[in-house]
Amino acid sequence: MSDQSGGGIGVEIIGSALHLPEGTLTNKDLEGMMDTSDEWIVKRTGINTRRRADIANGETTSVLATEAMRKALANAKVDATELDLLLVATMTCDSPTPSVGCVVAREVGCRDIGAMDINAACSGFLYTVSMADAMIKSGTYKTIGVIGADCITRHIDYSNFGRGAAILFGDGAGAMVLRATDDSSKGMISHKMHADGNGAKHLFIPSCEIDFPEEAEFDERKLDKVQMNGQAVFKFAVTKFQEVISETLEESGLSADDIDHFVCHQANSRILDSARERFGIPSEKLLVNIQKYGNTVGGSIPIVFHELVADGKVQPGQKVMFLAFGAGLTWGSSLWQL
Ligand code: UT7
Repeated sequence: MSDQSGGGIGVEIIGSALHLPEGTLTNKDLEGMMDTSDEWIVKRTGINTRRRADIANGETTSVLATEAMRKALANAKVDATELDLLLVATMTCDSPTPSVGCVVAREVGCRDIGAMDINAACSGFLYTVSMADAMIKSGTYKTIGVIGADCITRHIDYSNFGRGAAILFGDGAGAMVLRATDDSSKGMISHKMHADGNGAKHLFIPSCEIDFPEEAEFDERKLDKVQMNGQAVFKFAVTKFQEVISETLEESGLSADDIDHFVCHQANSRILDSARERFGIPSEKLLVNIQKYGNTVGGSIPIVFHELVADGKVQPGQKVMFLAFGAGLTWGSSLWQL
């Protein structure tokens, strides 16, 4: 590949897509399942409705991921056989093995390329897209499919004990196709990946009794269901979200005004508002779609990105900052020159 811009390989996002389950779970539906209200949910989170996959009838994480990848390949006008690697950000693999990556690669018709899952919870897509950029820039891979997909509702307790998480989460998937380009100005400019396992106790899914941290109290010790200390996660998210924006801007020598789109993990509209207020980000630069989908974990960022693309708001030459935080605890950023 010839170099036209002073060294190295660039990376372009040449296609994107989203795929959501048909089934919905509205605030009204939740009112019938637990002690909550539409008014409370809208006021405290900004969410009106969310999608819920019909897992019992085969609508699994792999199915959502496959459909998102198929559409992203079509939008990129790339055949599945052109992919050199497939990476899936998910924390809700259908079963311990095969990975969602292996299933998607089979279903969309990839060659026998590498395919794997990466688990960093709600920060998963951000970690994955950052790694994909580095792998392309290393010269080893030319075209990588990147997916964020989760069916988190299978791990939700729809009773009063689980209402903190039940109102927040929904299912969904988004995908991108990344490709090497001669224009080395394109691709990731800067990124941050952070994790602090000390905070794991605030947001986790226990598999067995010993997974419950001793120091934390729980209303009901339900296995296989999201256990969340909402206030602790809220505080962490507001703090780290702002910190990582500052870190990333400082490292790249840019100001918030230089960024065209802040593509943020959708966890609670109040968390997004806190960052907008702190950095003076106008609402048209930070799309909020949480009212429609809730928190879709790994799917959240590529879903927001694709909605911007579909609306014609994403243009070559723009700068986009992807931002996420979530269980682990994990958080980070990935700043791109399109
Ligand atoms: O990817 C990261 C995923 N997780 C997050 O981002 C979670 C971040 N945290 C949050 O979004 C918020 O903490 C929640 C939405 C989960 C909860 O909102 P909050 O404003 O932090 O509520 P709270 O836990 O401080 O509870 C305030 C009141 C309490 O009642 P009292 O004690 O004041 O009478 C709760 O019992 O609201 C009550 N409450 C509810 N009421 C109706 C808590 N959950 C609900 C509910 N419906 N679902």
